Amino acid sequence: MSYLETTVDVYRQAAEEPQIGLCCTTNPVWQLPGLSMPKRMLEMNYGCGSTVNPRDLVNNPTVLYVGVGGGMELLQFSYFSRRPGSVIGVDVVPEMIDACQQNLVEAEAQNDWFHRDFMDLRLGSALDLPVEDNSVDVAAQNCLFNIFKADDLKRALEETYRILKPHGRLVMSDPVCEQPMSDELRNDERLRALCLTGSVPLQAYLDFVTGVGFGTVEIRAKRAYRLLSPRHYATNELLYIESVEVCAIKDPMPADGPCVFTGKTAIYYGDEDYFDDGKGHVLMPNQPLSVCDKTAGALARLTRNDIFISPSTYFYDGGGCC
Ligand SMILES: C[S@@+](CC[C@H](N)C(=O)[O-])C[C@H]1O[C@@H](n2cnc3c(N)ncnc32)[C@H](O)[C@@H]1O
Repeated sequence: MSYLETTVDVYRQAAEEPQIGLCCTTNPVWQLPGLSMPKRMLEMNYGCGSTVNPRDLVNNPTVLYVGVGGGMELLQFSYFSRRPGSVIGVDVVPEMIDACQQNLVEAEAQNDWFHRDFMDLRLGSALDLPVEDNSVDVAAQNCLFNIFKADDLKRALEETYRILKPHGRLVMSDPVCEQPMSDELRNDERLRALCLTGSVPLQAYLDFVTGVGFGTVEIRAKRAYRLLSPRHYATNELLYIESVEVCAIKDPMPADGPCVFTGKTAIYYGDEDYFDDGKGHVLMPNQPLSVCDKTAGALARLTRNDIFISPSTYFYDGGGCC
């Protein structure tokens, strides 16, 4: 049995019997006016953050959600895209599609504004999406891609890149871990499927994302996710796992490499009216300008004594350079 089949097995069970606490996160579930969430949908929240951001969802976008779980985020997306077929959900586990479908029936009963035909649920894999090229505005996945081994992760990212329209967005939430893990942990297919031992360091994760061509990347949040302790897992040290929310935009790749925003700003504190780097970045006195890490590095290399670069907050939500 391959790790992908083990994953299907794990989520078949999680579809048949909700497993509260599987994945799970420290951020609260979005409350939106007029949105009522069925209890079973909440119990089947198997994500590790949120991929729903109103900023991505103006103008009734077509959304693709890969790895549907109980349908909670599909319903949240549909709050912003209220037209037939506007939210496509893809999952490889038939039982998960069925469970999601049932939860959506309940959601329809609880929400006047919601109609099940807003959703188009499709059986299929993240590795071979049953979706047309260049057809989606916003793609999302929550706590799925971390399960994939390198070749499959690359493939899954290539697939989302393929189906996105130019300048479309891939919004993701996944665990990351900066520490090395033992092979025993890495190869434990069940722990991997449970989103515990597949995660890679943040930079490696970003390299995968930019490696398939996404020209702009935003890190929107980073928070505590799990601890793997030697008492309970095959590890000699405590392993600290965080979850990150990342938005990858299908912008053309700049000639000098991707723009990755990790929440850095540049602040000019010199005596002139402003500082202009001649590359599109104008710093006004004592006004932080959000900059991507590439621009932050270029400004730091000027070694001026009147420009301060603030550290990454991993909480970037738009604006600034590039
Ligand atoms: C950790 S759960 C996350 C569910 C949902 N995104 C959420 O946040 O609640 C992973 C989901 O991915 C689905 N899945 C697993 N392998 C998949 C694959 N190869 N392609 C598509 N979906 C897959 C599972 O059935 C499950 O619904």
